[in-house]
Amino acid sequence: MSVSRELVLKELGMAPVWRLRQQPATLAPAEPAEAGNADRRSRILQMDWTQLKESVANCTACDLHKTRTQGVVGVGDEHAEWLIIGEAPGADEDAQGEPFVGQAGKLLDAMLAAIGLKRGDNVYIANVLKSRPPGNRNPAPEEVAACMPYLERQIQLIRPKIILALGRFAVQSLLNTEETIGRLRGRVHHYQGIPLIVTYHPAYLLRNLPDKEKAWEDLCLAREAMKHDKA
Ligand code: URA
Repeated sequence: MSVSRELVLKELGMAPVWRLRQQPATLAPAEPAEAGNADRRSRILQMDWTQLKESVANCTACDLHKTRTQGVVGVGDEHAEWLIIGEAPGADEDAQGEPFVGQAGKLLDAMLAAIGLKRGDNVYIANVLKSRPPGNRNPAPEEVAACMPYLERQIQLIRPKIILALGRFAVQSLLNTEETIGRLRGRVHHYQGIPLIVTYHPAYLLRNLPDKEKAWEDLCLAREAMKHDKA
């Protein structure tokens, strides 16, 4: 699909929201907080989708379970070629049980539409953290460490052709770096052999409109990386 820059920038502000409801999670035994980290990680890395969803729903591995409404696993096509990874659920996501349903989610949907994609259709959306940090504060390192095995397992199960990492926390957690988005964007990275494109978080773009143009370049790079992968 060839899309003009003007059309895309217009679309970034105008595309309609597209939502997919998540299935309610069923009950499963809680993850004991005291379990050894390595044991816990290796158990998570053997889970199927049902077990993973149940485990997230009952997870007590960090204190976020005390304040969250529910765990937010992810949404979309579990065999998607495109995997979009954000930071953590906010208030809307915590209430609805689905990633990116607030204002940042509207912009994300517009960004996806700009490259001919839509939520749930060959696209899966997840976050690094499955539980909302209170007051939308930044994720703490121990929360990221506790939650990463879930994301690792999601990536193994989905086996996406490309990962789009949104914002500092997703990028730094996946690439194991402290570099800034500004220094990392513009080239193709890899996570476990999967091409990974770095871009700004939609919530940041809502506050920094001029950087939408850079995000558009990043989306084009992602689309090119996909074409290259398919060639
Ligand atoms: N910001 C994120 O990083 N993820 C969401 O699900 C919502 C807002």
